[in-house]
Amino acid sequence: MILEALNFAASFPLTSADHRPFIRSSVNLWARANRCAAAWADHERRTKAAILLATQACRQRRTVVVLGSGLVRDVPVAELSALFDTVVLVDLVHLASVRSWLAIKGLKNIRLIERDLSGLDALRQGEACEPLAFLRQVPYLDLVVSANLLSQIGIGAARQLTGDATSDTLVRQVIAAHVEGLAQVSAETCLVTDTGYTVIDRTGVRLETVDLMHGVDPGPARDSWDWPVVPFGEESPDYQIMHHVMAR
Ligand SMILES: C[S@@+](CC[C@H](N)C(=O)[O-])C[C@H]1O[C@@H](n2cnc3c(N)ncnc32)[C@H](O)[C@@H]1O
Repeated sequence: MILEALNFAASFPLTSADHRPFIRSSVNLWARANRCAAAWADHERRTKAAILLATQACRQRRTVVVLGSGLVRDVPVAELSALFDTVVLVDLVHLASVRSWLAIKGLKNIRLIERDLSGLDALRQGEACEPLAFLRQVPYLDLVVSANLLSQIGIGAARQLTGDATSDTLVRQVIAAHVEGLAQVSAETCLVTDTGYTVIDRTGVRLETVDLMHGVDPGPARDSWDWPVVPFGEESPDYQIMHHVMAR
């Protein structure tokens, strides 16, 4: 608790006023990731492997943009920093703990951008939902990575739209806009996302299954695996929540 409070307090002045409301959930993610480190290790290793595989398809390695860089637990930042001239990390929030880690590692070619990647605000104002259009302005872009972000965009949008009768449609639209946005990028892309989850009890019975893509097809997977986001004992001794992840 003390470390979480310190990370929150240190992140506050480093974060723009608009994005400060997201510090709390990022600190919560940081705490959960630390508690579940062993259960999440294979998922993080496989995500990193998928990203490094994508780098091999790049004819040049000038700029890589990582969307949803978060805690950079599943992003091979040091390797990307060595391979590319510039690494741009984009997220709602970059915690003080992440900034310190990057500084300690001495990674000089990293740029941090705070940005809402959902496009929900534009959509609600009746404007075009092109949340990845800003990538057209990034010079020498050779690779875009979406790192376990897409499902979170949907979850965040659904939370903001609670009580809105058009919620389902809008959530589907922001998820589809991300997939389409990646398809339109004139660079190599790598999408890693959890597509759904299943709540499983101690006897292996599947209690509930949820589609995190809301019916949107994220495209054919090159690799897929299970990620025990909530292992037994994290929320309850009686069930675990297993997310299904795809990489392409
Ligand atoms: C599961 S975490 C990704 C983990 C991250 N790749 C890592 O290595 O630690 C999801 C990330 O998406 C970010 N996120 C969620 N909604 C977002 C949005 N609308 N715009 C930008 N980032 C968002 C969260 O802040 C969080 O860091």
